[in-house]
Amino acid sequence: MLPDQVDMLNLKVRKARIVGQDVMELVLVNSSGADLPVWEPGAHIHVHLPSGVIRQYSLCGSPADRKTYRIAVLRQPDGRGGSVEVHTALTEGVIFRASYPQNHFPLAAAPAYLFIAGGIGITPILPMIVKADREGAAWKLLYGGRTLASMSYRDELADWPDAVSIRPEDEYGLLDLAGALAERPAGSLVYCCGPEPLIQAVQRQCEARSEPEVFHFERFGAGQPAAGAGDDNEAFEVELVRSGVTLHVPADRTLLEVVREVVPDMPSSCEAGYCGTCELRVVHGVPLHRDTIMTDEEKAAGQSMMICVGRSLTPRLGLDI
Ligand code: FES
Repeated sequence: MLPDQVDMLNLKVRKARIVGQDVMELVLVNSSGADLPVWEPGAHIHVHLPSGVIRQYSLCGSPADRKTYRIAVLRQPDGRGGSVEVHTALTEGVIFRASYPQNHFPLAAAPAYLFIAGGIGITPILPMIVKADREGAAWKLLYGGRTLASMSYRDELADWPDAVSIRPEDEYGLLDLAGALAERPAGSLVYCCGPEPLIQAVQRQCEARSEPEVFHFERFGAGQPAAGAGDDNEAFEVELVRSGVTLHVPADRTLLEVVREVVPDMPSSCEAGYCGTCELRVVHGVPLHRDTIMTDEEKAAGQSMMICVGRSLTPRLGLDI
């Protein structure tokens, strides 16, 4: 969804608690007391932190609960600061801005599913499991993590001992992806969320089995190196149509960096092409897409682009900002 189409919420932290090693769960309500917007499993919200940083977090509660949202955030002291700020600044009673729920990871209808979660990647998977189970689909979950203590929501998963395999790496080693894929029921789809090496490993396994189409995934960490700047980049001109300004984008700078010269508060979050925060509408020209969230059809349509990694295939590109 494009930034100017995004309605904003004022959310209040009703409860904050630790649900795993370095994992903080926040239960959020609408500060006005009104019902919260509806959402489907796989959805996330963009949290606007007091410092101005924006981060996206999956909703991991119940879509049927219109009064509360739930997110869980892994504290990453070596990260870019967003998760640490969540842990320290979003205490009970604090009100902050957030986007309406958006969903780049919807659960497609299927008779069966194999869910694969790595660490905090369990968060979008939890409501998917509840939905799949309620709708009578067959499903299995393969859940990995560094240690048992680092793996959140094991208590909620205890309701399904036959379907859930909890495999902390310090006890079991790497996940047996090949085994899980080989044994999954016919017709099942594979949904995976976790760190990049896990996603790539599952992707390779699905490709090796000649069934890449069954694989659905969402990243929560940086994927491939940000492709907005690189040796093979071409320079181009960008017209910021609403601002009435045309700028030069050299080969060694990202489009986002250049746009911010004129629009310093241009929002971004991952800056690696997987969250959707920096999406802008394309007014003219042909974008060079390098993100990992738009579908092939959306990329071919060329109506919008992620400017943190995307560039231009034409000498001039016009953006709606
Ligand atoms: Fe996340 Fe651009 S900031 S896709």
